[in-house]
Amino acid sequence: MGSIDTQDARWAVDAATFPADKEALWKHPMEQDGWMHAHNALRGELEGFEQALASTAERWSGGTKPPAAWEIAAIQQWWAAHEAHVHSHHTNEDEIFNPVMKERISWPEKLETDHEGLVAHLEKLKGLVGALSAEGASSGIAELCTAWSAYKDDMLPHFAEEEAQGLPLCRAFFTPKEVGEIVQRILGNPDAPKEEMGSFIHYMGEDHFRKVFMPQEGIPFFVWFLDFKAKLSYYRTRIISQLDALKDGIEPAPVSNDGWCTIS
Ligand SMILES: [Fe+2]
Ligand SMILES: [Fe+2]
Repeated sequence: MGSIDTQDARWAVDAATFPADKEALWKHPMEQDGWMHAHNALRGELEGFEQALASTAERWSGGTKPPAAWEIAAIQQWWAAHEAHVHSHHTNEDEIFNPVMKERISWPEKLETDHEGLVAHLEKLKGLVGALSAEGASSGIAELCTAWSAYKDDMLPHFAEEEAQGLPLCRAFFTPKEVGEIVQRILGNPDAPKEEMGSFIHYMGEDHFRKVFMPQEGIPFFVWFLDFKAKLSYYRTRIISQLDALKDGIEPAPVSNDGWCTIS
């Protein structure tokens, strides 16, 4: 998907007051933008769960036979984290990011209307995940694999469109400092599910997050110890462990309530 012409007059709400002239102020490439990284985390989850489901299906005759109870528990635990993460991502866009963008940009409508279709996918998936059973003739895994593929096939183009249209427009009409304030509101939201930040850091890599992303966004180093470190640890111990277990076909070790593995 090609990028758009940010200088086209149709994008400006008020070109005299808010011209599309901020692009040169952006020093880091679009690939390092927080929005792109947020999508990378979700792309990582889409891919990871697809592999986990494929491995599970393979163990149970293409997903036509009931899986073990532990596999269902792992799927349901991972799904709950993903569902919270995706809803929070959409909320960040709909309620925090886009309203600011619309002050200066005639925001592409499709970027928001897409969310309705994606939410319909989530509702369907929620029903399928909740109905999984270790008893009976059909496990629901095969159906879940199909529904997951359909969801992924709609999510990936949506991310690509936001990155090809929304991101260049944002960087033409807003300065890095202005957007940095929005990013800090999103990253520092006390009501955000911890899975969201945990996933963001996990898929970026801890080193890159601490050495590149935090300084880029002007986040003081100590916030790592105050907030981010525990979220990454939780995400890896409680959520990634479910994917690994499903991929390997090995029941995950029990963990304590604080997210740490009780078996070393
Ligand atoms: Fe979106
Ligand atoms: Fe998005």
